[in-house]
Amino acid sequence: MYSGSYERNRDPIVEVLKGLQVEPGEVLEVGSGSGQHICYFAKTFGDEWSWQPTEQEQNVESIQAWREAEGVSARVKKPVAINLLEERWSDVLEGSYTMVMSVNVVHIVVWQGVVNLLNGVGKMLKSGGVLYLYGPYRSQDRELEPSNARFDVFLKETYEGGGLRDVERVVEVARGAGLEFEQEIAMPANNRSLIFRKI
Ligand SMILES: C[S@@+](CC[C@H](N)C(=O)[O-])C[C@H]1O[C@@H](n2cnc3c(N)ncnc32)[C@H](O)[C@@H]1O
Repeated sequence: MYSGSYERNRDPIVEVLKGLQVEPGEVLEVGSGSGQHICYFAKTFGDEWSWQPTEQEQNVESIQAWREAEGVSARVKKPVAINLLEERWSDVLEGSYTMVMSVNVVHIVVWQGVVNLLNGVGKMLKSGGVLYLYGPYRSQDRELEPSNARFDVFLKETYEGGGLRDVERVVEVARGAGLEFEQEIAMPANNRSLIFRKI
């Protein structure tokens, strides 16, 4: 698999990640897609970091292929199949993570999948660890950008239960999972980085 958006967003994401106060350790990526991002992050960050990709069963092979092709098998663990629609999706993972990240997943998966994601992360993150979410969001504080309004229509037509999420709603569920909202950072192409910290 190949992701076109990966080429555009990988460096802006790295810039934000490098500015976060996080202890080096193991990073979990939820919904790694093709696997390109996690291989790039592993190459960009030092040896003291390790990376755990996850995806739906049908995409695990792509991540495995990128992992081998990029020569990062020492730092990127074997991809694990997950399904966010399962409440206990995180039971298949063994780590305790210093950071969890998820890029462009929250608007694709149904809302219950987002709730499950946040609750699972609340359990798996180490105290003081960070949850990093990237993607387009709505907010009560600003008008929805025309490009995101069009994207929302596309998402609703394409993915059952998909669509842009309200930052405020995500923040509320995250708080219930023990994740405090820390900051929102505007990113290129009307995307946002949302940063949460485990209390
Ligand atoms: C737009 S892609 C983003 C992929 C990758 N993070 C990226 O930025 O290139 C959304 C991803 O969410 C994953 N996804 C959708 N529903 C899921 C579910 N129920 N459980 C786990 N992953 C899911 C899809 O398989 C897909 O790879």
